[in-house]
Amino acid sequence: MKESIIAPSILASDFSNFAGAAAEIEKAGADWVHIDVMDGQFVPNLTFGPKLAADLRPKTLLPFDVHLMVKNPENLIEPFARSGADYITFHSEAAVHSQRLLVLIRELGKKAGISIVPSTPVCAIGELLPFADLVLVMTVNPGFGGQELIPQCLQKVQTLAELREKKGFSYLISVDGGIQEKTAPLARSAGADVLVAGTAFFAAADKEALVKRLRGR
Ligand code: DX5
Ligand code: ZN
Repeated sequence: MKESIIAPSILASDFSNFAGAAAEIEKAGADWVHIDVMDGQFVPNLTFGPKLAADLRPKTLLPFDVHLMVKNPENLIEPFARSGADYITFHSEAAVHSQRLLVLIRELGKKAGISIVPSTPVCAIGELLPFADLVLVMTVNPGFGGQELIPQCLQKVQTLAELREKKGFSYLISVDGGIQEKTAPLARSAGADVLVAGTAFFAAADKEALVKRLRGR
């Protein structure tokens, strides 16, 4: 099995020190910085906008994995592209013209991601898969860190891996929500390429060791 990409979420970090959080992610040997953008509308919580990404950009060399949990994601795609995002992922449930948005993200030179909440089946995004560089499967209902992974969601990871194989698609499969040492192996064996971890990462005393274990080493 190939090694997973580990993407710690700064949602679980100290909001008074994002530069410190990025440094910890880098020092632990993780791969991406996961940036959870919440608007208080699509989800019942509020975080940060493109300025955070812009200010954090010079502080680390790691790619920024921006996860937009917002209504009207079309308003935030260009601002995040300008602010140094590498991956920009939005929710299929929040957009009507999702295909257009995926194309726009790629035109801006970024990797385009589409996400689904636990109640959305893979078939709802079937037409979008050829246009996606990343598919983010939420394994909790988005809005808050520290929730328990919903195991049924991992079936969708397996479906996405099979579809990719069968149809020759190239997206990465990411899982987000409740990923820790016990659940990471389940996500990996379902076929996940990217593991997002917030609470588990920032709570770990030895972050480097945790990253290795999440990867399966
Ligand atoms: C949830 C966010 C996740 C969250 C994961 O709405 O999209 O990225 O930070 O946090 P944990 O790992 O604590 O479930
Ligand atoms: Zn996220």
